[in-house]
Amino acid sequence: MTKISIAIDGPASAGKSTVAKILAKDLGYIYLDTGAMYRAITYAALKSNCDLASEEAIAKLLPTTTISFKQTEQGQLVFINDEDVTEAIRKPDVTNAVSQVAAQAAVRTDLVRRQQAFGEEGGIVMDGRDIGTAVLPNAEVKIFLVASVIERAERRYKENIENGIETDFETLKKEIEDRDFKDTTRKISPLVQAEDALKIDTTGMGIAEVVTAIKDQVTLKMDKK
Ligand code: DC
Repeated sequence: MTKISIAIDGPASAGKSTVAKILAKDLGYIYLDTGAMYRAITYAALKSNCDLASEEAIAKLLPTTTISFKQTEQGQLVFINDEDVTEAIRKPDVTNAVSQVAAQAAVRTDLVRRQQAFGEEGGIVMDGRDIGTAVLPNAEVKIFLVASVIERAERRYKENIENGIETDFETLKKEIEDRDFKDTTRKISPLVQAEDALKIDTTGMGIAEVVTAIKDQVTLKMDKK
């Protein structure tokens, strides 16, 4: 059967990765978490005490920062060279710095090229901010997932509690708003809905419902092929 490409974009905590993982599993496709790649570069920059405002310093890190993914029973693990950074890249220091790194031209050019290489053969579900607009502009299915800030902060809050991370709800909400602002106003590939993307507002929707709505789009495209 023809394998298509599915691009899922949207702001932080809109449910992109949860939905993308389920879709990829059900369809037997590869899942690529592009946010994890921006996080990995940010982690590498923090670890080597780079000045995050120095595009030159961060650009120098790129050639030696190999990012790879490994599928396991516990889910997808993220590696920088041989170091498992799956948990480290989700920590608040990385989360709060990643927008600054993701706004830099050298970082975006390099990571977009790596992401396109992953997607060359189709059969992929990629989630991020610029997948439908810049990484896979020819993706057969493009989804733009949104949800209210309150609901996204509530989801992140619950997730943190489950992971034993203590956070203040108002702080979380503010961090999401800040990240939305930075991601939508940056000069290069800002977060924007692709013209041919289907917008799904997941506020008040369950995960299964969102997955079904996207699968309907996949079926539509498959029927046309
Ligand atoms: O989806 P996430 O929260 O893990 O993404 C982390 C950051 O990376 C987010 O602030 C925006 C950036 N990002 C991006 O600029 N382009 C992508 N394709 C994916 C993520």
